[in-house]
Amino acid sequence: MTNKIAVLAGDGIGPEIVAQAVKVLGVLRDEFGLQIELEEAPVGGRAYDVSGQPLPEPTLRLAKEADAVLLGAVGGPQWEALDISLRPEKGLLGLRAELELFSNLRPAILYEQLADASTLKADVVAGLDIMIVRELTGGIYFGQPRGVRTLANGERQGFNTLVYSESEIERIGRSAFEIAMKRDKRVCSVDKANVLECTELWREVMERIAVDYPQVVLSHMYVDNAAMQLVRAPKQFDVMVTTNMFGDILSDCAAMLTGSIGMLPSASLAADAKGMYEPIHGSAPDIAGKGIANPLATILSVAMLLRYTLDEQDLASRIERAVSAVLDQGLRTADIYTDGMKKIGTEDMGEAVVASLISDGG
Ligand code: IPM
Ligand code: MG
Repeated sequence: MTNKIAVLAGDGIGPEIVAQAVKVLGVLRDEFGLQIELEEAPVGGRAYDVSGQPLPEPTLRLAKEADAVLLGAVGGPQWEALDISLRPEKGLLGLRAELELFSNLRPAILYEQLADASTLKADVVAGLDIMIVRELTGGIYFGQPRGVRTLANGERQGFNTLVYSESEIERIGRSAFEIAMKRDKRVCSVDKANVLECTELWREVMERIAVDYPQVVLSHMYVDNAAMQLVRAPKQFDVMVTTNMFGDILSDCAAMLTGSIGMLPSASLAADAKGMYEPIHGSAPDIAGKGIANPLATILSVAMLLRYTLDEQDLASRIERAVSAVLDQGLRTADIYTDGMKKIGTEDMGEAVVASLISDGG
């Protein structure tokens, strides 16, 4: 069976980095017999420029009929003045909601070759391997009512709503427990239950479902403490599960522990293993078009795609090994460069991964 992959490169550095990931997919198809078919479509600011919508109907249709979506990044300064409903980010949020990608997996893994690239001391981060499980289709990002209203006294007031139903908490909780079962069997649920009723319920539901996973140790942490612990002693964590907005913030923080946000992939999964795969970093408009962006997070997103949607564990491991091998060779893009290494651009990094993929006897 041929799997269809929708390729949505997006804005900024999106097209450059996705081009490298597509090269890797091409090698898997031509040299390793992976049965895939790729189809591209615009999303985000570029989609707005050509069609007036950040998530045009044909793009959404393609994403829905595909088995998986590979996404670059969206956004840029030229679209910041648009109404919020037309901004590039809405394209991304629309995909998440329409495809019901409620479970967002954001691993923070430190490649030992990059221990010196972290701003934290090497011994604090050496061996780091955290999986952040972020709820992605609910919470304050999507809660109603929302908007800006004018009060009786004429003053304007902005408002958003943090809402989670028990079933939404339960499904993300189960997602986290299932993942923990394949790892070190520890889940830390992050909330603000001391202040927010919504996350008091979150904590209660996590406790309830934990009963079904007796081998997994569940702990709870307030989000402010979790942020502190992530920089103080990050290796205490195995799986962290949290709300949409807390996950947004903590995953950037966790990413930086690994030296560069340019290294980290992510998977956003629906209940049926369909998924959207993208680097954690954004569209980096400041370096777009310069050929210096790090394509490794996007290439590693392809590895996640193989793991979680196509169930091609061996090919996924091959990509991860190839990435590790190019780091062993001392090849670095600017974001992960340290003294004594060889600085290369986006394209050369993609080529290096391809070469190492082909030469790996497996
Ligand atoms: C992320 C991004 C998005 C988010 C933006 C671009 C809407 O920061 O994927 O973490 O806030 O979810
Ligand atoms: Mg974010």
